[in-house]
Amino acid sequence: MMGPHSRSEWEEEQLGKVLDLRLLRRLLRYARPYWPLLALALLLSGGISVIELALPYITKVAVDEALVLPWVEIQSATPPVPTAIVVGEGRYLVREADLPSDLLEEFERTGALVGRWLLVPQDSAESEVALRHPDLFLATPEGYAISEENLKALPRSEVWRLRAPQYRLLGLLGLVFLGFLFLRFGLGYGQIYTLQYAGQRIMFDMRREIFGHLLRLPMSVLDREPVGRLVTRATNDVAAVNEMYTRALVNLIQDLFMMLGVLAIMFRLNSRLTLYLLAFAPVIAVLAFLFRRMVRVAYREARRILAQLNAYLAESLSGMAVIQLFRQELRSFRRFQEINRGFFRAQMRSIMAFGLFQPAIAAMQNIALAFLIWYGGRGVLAGVFTLGGLIAFTSYIRTLFQPLVRFSEEYDVLQSAMAAAERIFMFLDLPQEPSGKRPVPEIRGEIEFRDVWFAYNDEDWVLKGVSFRVRPGERIAIVGPTGAGKTTIISLILGFYRPKKGQVLIDGVPLEELDLGEYRRHVALVPQDVFLFSGNVWENIRMWNGGLGREAAERAAKLVGIHDHILRLPEGYETDVKERGMRISVGERQLLSLARAAAADPKILILDEATANVDSHTEALVQEALEKVMAGRTTIAIAHRLSTIRNSDRVLVIHEGKLVEEGTVEELLARKGLFWALWQLQFAGARDNLK
Ligand SMILES: Nc1ncnc2c1ncn2[C@@H]1O[C@H](COP(=O)(O)OP(=O)(O)OP(=O)(O)O)[C@@H](O)[C@H]1O
Ligand SMILES: [Mg+2]
Repeated sequence: MMGPHSRSEWEEEQLGKVLDLRLLRRLLRYARPYWPLLALALLLSGGISVIELALPYITKVAVDEALVLPWVEIQSATPPVPTAIVVGEGRYLVREADLPSDLLEEFERTGALVGRWLLVPQDSAESEVALRHPDLFLATPEGYAISEENLKALPRSEVWRLRAPQYRLLGLLGLVFLGFLFLRFGLGYGQIYTLQYAGQRIMFDMRREIFGHLLRLPMSVLDREPVGRLVTRATNDVAAVNEMYTRALVNLIQDLFMMLGVLAIMFRLNSRLTLYLLAFAPVIAVLAFLFRRMVRVAYREARRILAQLNAYLAESLSGMAVIQLFRQELRSFRRFQEINRGFFRAQMRSIMAFGLFQPAIAAMQNIALAFLIWYGGRGVLAGVFTLGGLIAFTSYIRTLFQPLVRFSEEYDVLQSAMAAAERIFMFLDLPQEPSGKRPVPEIRGEIEFRDVWFAYNDEDWVLKGVSFRVRPGERIAIVGPTGAGKTTIISLILGFYRPKKGQVLIDGVPLEELDLGEYRRHVALVPQDVFLFSGNVWENIRMWNGGLGREAAERAAKLVGIHDHILRLPEGYETDVKERGMRISVGERQLLSLARAAAADPKILILDEATANVDSHTEALVQEALEKVMAGRTTIAIAHRLSTIRNSDRVLVIHEGKLVEEGTVEELLARKGLFWALWQLQFAGARDNLK
């Protein structure tokens, strides 16, 4: 059955639509608690944009107001504007700003504009300089005028004095510039902080939800999902979503804002030049998107191979002993080299794409800049464009194109985030382990299978109509060949899986009606492969059960005979079982697990070959201990060793998913069926061993 979560949909590299509104809405829900922060970040972004736009403008003002001489000398038969000052025969001084630009351009073209002047008002402090150098200054009704050439003849100290207002203006502008820089720094810090804080909190929440969900997934789902993939959900995918919040969303808005702002200013400064420059925009945008796509393909490939490399490395490391034993070093090395080479190539492709992308964009920008200098420079010479304006334009042009380049990046981030979000939500939408509502304060420990059919996949029946009943306190042994379905039976008793057909009843109540969490409190399992958690020995025995004292844990350890082993560990019960260099043997693990089960004081005790890995002597001891542990509990023990089976009240023989024989050891032996055959085999083996 290809359910709603089929393989292809889970593909790691699958791309999402960039604008999936349903998805986006669900994603934004995570941002809701932090919207004031995000709004603040956006506001700060706005501030930053304004400053970035203002800085070139300050440069422009500095150049135009303080550096360039503001008056132009025009040769003309009549005054070009009424406010013109006469400085000689057909020579007029006009403040450049007062001249309409078409007129200015015409004067420039016809050569009527012959020079630039500085004018010092009559009664200003600077006028004393003029009085000291009457030969260089021309007295006019408006004040003392000095031409650019005469200005050069003036001693430097006098120039200082003369141009003091401009120096003051420059100083002021410098201060404003500096102030803006500081403000820019503060806003930038605040913006990054608020944005990253919100992003990290959103990630924090998502990871919590994902892990919380993971804890409640039914085994049937966990079976299907490779561990690496689930880890990716909680780490990489969440990080991709974070990128969207911290890089794409806010930047996108900020970039749009910047572009509009820059366009508005540029249009105001010179609309025609702006229009020409805008012609470069589509070229840059298309370039950016093309290269982005190249980079993306190469990058994905590199990541895919990196995952392979990691997987191979991990597998080799954990299987190193086998590799060395079977002398597979060379083969393993070659295989690794193959992947390694693939990774190198993919990496180089991605780097080359980047290597092309950046210079290509830079080249386009520089071409635009060259055009600006050529065209704008002509404009400055023609007087239609101020020098400050041109300088500001060279800054603005970068501000104009940068967002264009970044859009493609943000598009990418957005796309990855959407794909990641889709995967995360698909995971979060996996149904949780179903549980009934019926409280289970106590149980007697009766188990019944009523014509139970079960398959892990579709219709590959693992259990085919199994029926049996276990009375409270009864000791049952389940025997059968490997792969017969024994572990499956106990998984059903524990509620890890639901039967496809038929029913599992506990105390006569269908298991699915019971509150699973409460029910499991009365059940303990010693699994086939024991899992120890990081932590010390006694935490592993009591399983963080607050109600279980240290003595109880110790008593359980003594009961199964592992107490002395534990005391021999470096730090006894405090020894960390997952610490480096700390190895617990497989048999010791089983004993620990037995102690864990005994400490839990369950009503139903399930042993899945609990003593398969301990020596016969220890097993005999454990068997003895088990007698005590099992007293008054329903026990189901899967066992291959007949010594374990002999002590049971009843034996169930499972073969190919069916209950083929059932009865006491004597009854089964008398029947001379499968059990008898197994018994003979073991007995014969035991006899051979004795020889
Ligand atoms: N999680 C699973 N998903 C799919 N198939 C499974 C799963 N677990 C077990 N099986 C299959 O179900 C069948 C029964 O497995 P089960 O673990 O119940 O056997 P068993 O009787 O416990 O064997 P053993 O004595 O080796 O432990 C086997 O063919 C096995 O391949
Ligand atoms: Mg098994």
